[in-house]
Amino acid sequence: MPSSKLDQAEYLINLLGRKRNTVEREVGDDLDHKNSHSSNSDTDFEDVVYTHLTRDEMMKQLHNKASAGEWTLSLPSIELGYQSSTTEQQDECLDDVVETYLENPKTRFYKEAHFNYIEKCLTAKLPSGYKSLDANHPWMMYWLVNSHLVIKDNDGESRLSKDIVNLVNRKIESCIIDEGRGGIAGGANQMGHLASTYAAVLTLVLTRNTPTLLKIRTNLYTWIMGLKRKTKQGSSFLMHGLGEYDTRSTYCALVICVLLNTATPELVEGVADWIISCQTYEGGFAGVPNTEAHGGYTFCAFSSLFILNTAPQDIIGQINFDKFVRWCVARQTCEGGFSGRTNKLVDVCYSFWIGALMPMIDVLQKSHTFNKEALRNYILRIAQVKSGGFRDKPGKSVDFYHTNYALCGLSCCEHDYRLIDDGENSSLAFRIVENSTNETTFTYAVNPVFGIPTSFCNSSLRNV
Ligand code: FPP
Ligand code: ZN
Repeated sequence: MPSSKLDQAEYLINLLGRKRNTVEREVGDDLDHKNSHSSNSDTDFEDVVYTHLTRDEMMKQLHNKASAGEWTLSLPSIELGYQSSTTEQQDECLDDVVETYLENPKTRFYKEAHFNYIEKCLTAKLPSGYKSLDANHPWMMYWLVNSHLVIKDNDGESRLSKDIVNLVNRKIESCIIDEGRGGIAGGANQMGHLASTYAAVLTLVLTRNTPTLLKIRTNLYTWIMGLKRKTKQGSSFLMHGLGEYDTRSTYCALVICVLLNTATPELVEGVADWIISCQTYEGGFAGVPNTEAHGGYTFCAFSSLFILNTAPQDIIGQINFDKFVRWCVARQTCEGGFSGRTNKLVDVCYSFWIGALMPMIDVLQKSHTFNKEALRNYILRIAQVKSGGFRDKPGKSVDFYHTNYALCGLSCCEHDYRLIDDGENSSLAFRIVENSTNETTFTYAVNPVFGIPTSFCNSSLRNV
């Protein structure tokens, strides 16, 4: 806490936010001044705050300047008129994004550069900076292999070489503990963890490694049942023997079991109740009850409901669906992409965490909710890097995680989905399919619940 009276006053003013000064100036003029590089104009530009324009008007003008007129943005219409570190970061982010739109006027796709980036990352030694990911080896395998398989190639065949597939399988197998009795770890000689087990199982499904999946299937089920915990709101799963439980760990447990066809009534009992209790007053879902709604946790929670339910009406009736849809739609920012929570910045990974919710919402309510074109523009013109890979936002570097979720998000907005009636009343997660094959996309259709191309979902042990 600040010590002197003066510090305390300043602290409170900062908390409340300073009133912005109004500067009567046209936004277009300011861009011209900035581009002229005269020192006076630069200073003028720094000083300008656009309180006389609504955010809507400001963005319209900026986008006319950026010749980005082929899509319209859903914009926050309230101009608060106060400045704080949050609004400063938002203003800076918007400036960087508009500048990047100007630099990249077209939605190109650098397919070969992405294939090279992914293959290099799968085969070369990682730089020392990656040591912080030493507990995430199965995650790295999933992000890279999945990115490769989501990109559409000319002949429709996977371009992943046999050598790379073998390398990936050996890496995953080195993380399996006692044929799955202790789960799958994040790295050799580490303890089993639900999140790394989830990433490992997805990877084995992607490499179609059925013998290994069959070997670990029953042991993983027993291990996961041992992680199940009853709470007063329902049942969830611990991440590991001494770990936390949240909507992520619960989603991971469900995905593993449903893909391995071991989602027994005992496993799912009470789980939907617990998930539902994580919906917050805002409409999104939190990690645990009574905390903040967040895109990552909301994806896990809503996807879990898609796994657990067989009838659309059941999901709509279980939660406050209208509030949920409103919260999701409000995540689309003026930059075109999504943010993860209220008053936070756009980040390309939410193109999947939130973007995957759009086909799920659309098939339930039979309408289109989001601005797909705006999202596609953010992914291809702002987050895509010409030398390969995708980044969170301008100023950040590409990485495996953002590359995978940018591509999966791109897939969700490039394809239309529908619910099929398979005559067996199966989980909605398996019944959400691509509407019709679209020839002009850069990606294959991803199953929005599992985050892998739809063609792989049935190569799991689902039918065994
Ligand atoms: C906040 O990041 C991030 C979280 C609180 C968790 C995110 C959860 C996921 C991405 C889901 C994980 C999914 C599985 C399947 C395990 P931040 O505060 O750095 O970001 P923000 O400013 O965008 O909120
Ligand atoms: Zn991110």
